[in-house]
Amino acid sequence: MAEESAGIDALSAENRRFAPPEDFKRDALVVGTFMYDEANEDFHEFWAGQASDLVSWSRQWSAICEWELPYAKWFVGAQLNVAYNCLDRHVEAGIGDRVAIYWEGEPGDTRTITYAQLLDETKRFASVLQGLGVGVGDRVNIYLPMIPEAAVAMLACARIGAAHSVVFGGFSAQSLSDRINDAEAKVLITADGGWRRGEVFPLKTAADEALATTPTIEHVVVVRRGGNDVTMVDGRDHWYHELMEHASDDCPAEPFDSEQLLFLLYTSGTTGKPKGIMHTTGGYLTHVAFTHKYVFDLHADTDVYWCTADIGWITGHSYIVYGPLANGATQVMYEGVPNFPANDRMWDIVEKYKVSIFYTAPTAIRTYMKWGDQEPAKHDLTSLRLLGSVGEPINPEAWMWYREHIGGDRCPVVDTWWQTETGGIMISPLPGATTLKPGSATFPLPGISAEVVDDNAAHVEVGGGYLTLTQPWPGMLRGIWNDPQRYQDTYWSRFPGRYFAGDGAKLDDDGYLWLLGRVDDVMNVSGHRISTTEVESALVSHPAVAEAAVVGANDATTGQAIIAYVTLRTGFDADVKTLRDHVATEIGPIAKPKAIFFTPELPKTRSGKIMRRLLRDVAEGRNLGDTTTLADATVVDELQTRAAQAPPED
Ligand code: WTA
Repeated sequence: MAEESAGIDALSAENRRFAPPEDFKRDALVVGTFMYDEANEDFHEFWAGQASDLVSWSRQWSAICEWELPYAKWFVGAQLNVAYNCLDRHVEAGIGDRVAIYWEGEPGDTRTITYAQLLDETKRFASVLQGLGVGVGDRVNIYLPMIPEAAVAMLACARIGAAHSVVFGGFSAQSLSDRINDAEAKVLITADGGWRRGEVFPLKTAADEALATTPTIEHVVVVRRGGNDVTMVDGRDHWYHELMEHASDDCPAEPFDSEQLLFLLYTSGTTGKPKGIMHTTGGYLTHVAFTHKYVFDLHADTDVYWCTADIGWITGHSYIVYGPLANGATQVMYEGVPNFPANDRMWDIVEKYKVSIFYTAPTAIRTYMKWGDQEPAKHDLTSLRLLGSVGEPINPEAWMWYREHIGGDRCPVVDTWWQTETGGIMISPLPGATTLKPGSATFPLPGISAEVVDDNAAHVEVGGGYLTLTQPWPGMLRGIWNDPQRYQDTYWSRFPGRYFAGDGAKLDDDGYLWLLGRVDDVMNVSGHRISTTEVESALVSHPAVAEAAVVGANDATTGQAIIAYVTLRTGFDADVKTLRDHVATEIGPIAKPKAIFFTPELPKTRSGKIMRRLLRDVAEGRNLGDTTTLADATVVDELQTRAAQAPPED
């Protein structure tokens, strides 16, 4: 256990190890330590090498990185066009016929889009935007389902030097109007509706409601997808297909400065108004192209890659749009939910397109576990050769299940830690080079420097603490839109000179990093600071448990008491005593939950992160605050009823 002064105690131990398989290593892009060695010598030069190798520039930089804490500029003075990098240059290189996107609509309709076609569509839509008055530096809001036009809209903005601000299609009218107003966007791109769980959900209606309070919007472009009725306002609203009919494809990709704003992406956080995270072009593109290529060991001419994120999240920006397209990858894009028409939809798609690289979130993996082993077993998944995870700490047992039931015990699993703010992956294995431990994101990537520190900012060698980043990286956020003070306060004030991500982490004896969740979630039980992640992983390691959420609720005796909410796997059963004892055996009696409640679902944000703040409110019998970011609000009502009925265990 860590010293008292360390931020968080490290309790659990994991001894399983998986070295890169020999046949994976044979074709892997990185084997051994050469890339780490090179980056350690000079990280600026390392990134400059990647920038030259992976990105096409119109003008060379005069300095690799200018760092005036907390602001970094990368590839200073250089110029490039991001859309050119994602499209034109592939067509020029003769791979215009390569499939960029295999798109699968939820009802089963499909579209296959080559790089040449994606370029043509993007050029024409870029002309459309220019025709609507969008110029360099303007902001464009995008509120679309998972359809190819979402990527086209983003790339069209990039092509003409406008910044996009994508708002997840599941967000409410209020969230949309807040974000439009903060960004002062000129144009909104939306759709009539999209498919979800077998039905059309209306988007234009929500957009109309938002538009009542967004004075800066001059034009609205509406993509026809749902076929549902919409109201079009004369002069303001235009159908995408009508504008595109007459659009010119003469829209050259002008070079822009490496620090030109590429996009804003709002993170909601648990409190306060959303922050408009700013990302620029040259450094960001270098970072996402590099990580997409090497973390996923991309062989662009043979791999079929699939990232299941929504384009409205940073994962969709970096690892559906910019990274894969910059690398000329072929990818699958899916519109709908994983259980329509049945619980094996994802595996059906993997088999259909022969997906070789699959990137998803722990929350999804635990859901597949809950649905049962028989679902993936219905399909031939032998095309897969690499699996990835992002979004939350992955419990070792979920990692093992993913490896075994999806990866056929053959695919490396890369757990990738990063954030909207970091722009791209920061901590992750390189699958041909790193020996994996289930549940560990392993090491910072070459060119990235992370350190765990304690409450007093002292370096932690072994044990738990706070994860900090100690040197600038190319994809880092350039600030918070219109709020430099908040940028300083949020990320740079807790540990002077360091970027503090808000996550707890521990280092084991071998120097592997284990993410412990948000530090706001850390519990204090009789003076021990215990991470919710470790107790959750202990619960999930019981064969009957698919998913668990753990919170610390006020307790007169121990300061906080551990309260657990548990979802069982279909067809399994377990009682409270068994699970409490199991936790005691796995990590020690101190971590034994005081009470365990069983629930069919856990409250989650729309991007799938467990909302522990709400569960704490439930556990402490408080009125619930803002629940608008919940994916399914009925889950919480259900839990409140149960909490009221079942007295906590001793
Ligand atoms: C969490 C998603 C553990 C973490 C790319 C981070 C993770 C927040 C991991 C960012 C991981 C993301 N292991 N935790 N592999 N990946 N997180 O901005 O708490 O939606 O700070 O970016 O997700 O979430 P965001």
